[in-house]
Amino acid sequence: MPRAAENCGRSLTSDLNSVEGLGFYLYRSTARDGLGADELQDILLEARRRNQALGLTGCLHYEDGLFFQWLEGPVEGLRDVVASIERDRRHVSLDVLDQGSLDHRRFQDWRMRFSDRDKASLMDWFAKSDSSTVHRGDYAGGVVAFMMSIAV
Ligand SMILES: Cc1cc2nc3c(=O)[nH]c(=O)nc-3n(C[C@H](O)[C@H](O)[C@H](O)COP(=O)(O)O)c2cc1C
Repeated sequence: MPRAAENCGRSLTSDLNSVEGLGFYLYRSTARDGLGADELQDILLEARRRNQALGLTGCLHYEDGLFFQWLEGPVEGLRDVVASIERDRRHVSLDVLDQGSLDHRRFQDWRMRFSDRDKASLMDWFAKSDSSTVHRGDYAGGVVAFMMSIAV
């Protein structure tokens, strides 16, 4: 079971400063107004290049103007990229859903998997699942379960 799903009922287990080895970071954010397909492509190109260099993997889902991203890998590189992502003006209202240490990667083969509503809908997935979108821990677990279900 994804670590995020195990955190039901609790607030964030840790921040990345207390993590050694492999870490993960899961967030939701809102795309800047008017963000176009070209900019989305730029983000992906840049992300995949840097993730490859730092040994990071993960999944980025974009739906109805919202980004959902799971990023995982060696914590030194992860911390740097998270700092970049948090100050990136191409999105706003970044909300950390979960972060912490990881025993094994969830997206081993993906420098950054990308999906959007045309491929799979997170909102439809939640509508059909038992996961709560109100309870923070359930919500984070649901987002990860959705991402893992499409990254096969
Ligand atoms: C939604 C979103 C997801 C991103 N994902 C990644 C990522 O997975 N890896 C990455 O290196 N950069 C990612 N970026 C780009 C970074 O924010 C940043 O622009 C890039 O890493 C260059 O870092 P710098 O601006 O500090 O030089 C993402 C940006 C956005 C808006």
